[in-house]
Amino acid sequence: MAISFTVNGKPVSVEAPPDTRLLWVIREELKLHGTKFGCGVGQCGACMVHIDGDRTFSCLAPIEAVAGRSVTTIEGLSAHSDHPVQKAWLAERVPQCGYCQSGQIMSAAILLKQNPHPTRAQIVAHMSTNLCRCGTYPRIVRAIERASRES
Ligand code: FES
Ligand code: FES
Repeated sequence: MAISFTVNGKPVSVEAPPDTRLLWVIREELKLHGTKFGCGVGQCGACMVHIDGDRTFSCLAPIEAVAGRSVTTIEGLSAHSDHPVQKAWLAERVPQCGYCQSGQIMSAAILLKQNPHPTRAQIVAHMSTNLCRCGTYPRIVRAIERASRES
């Protein structure tokens, strides 16, 4: 059965078993490789995307739950990689290996959408869904604070 939804503003229709996880559709069918597989069980945040404007672990979301909805991946967060969070990420030179970073940015973007001027404690609490094995946490916090100031 075909399941239709939009990804980064474009309509897509995917033939897949309804319990197929959105992450695999994004990566294997749609070839959008910015969204990463980390743990597969909702513990690391590497797979974070937006669905209808809120963040979601795409490794947990069955494709049938996405029918008719709007998915945004890191590739669609901004037209020219110029979302305030992306600009702040560059300014603070956040990434190390980079593997977790698209998920971090997708989570941070939702935080600032919901709360444009979060406290440091609110940033840390919100971002606790996203792990970074390289320990870039201090730079992540600084980048979110910068994006909050500059947007
Ligand atoms: S891969 Fe989805 S939370 Fe880790
Ligand atoms: S930058 Fe390497 S895991 Fe986060």
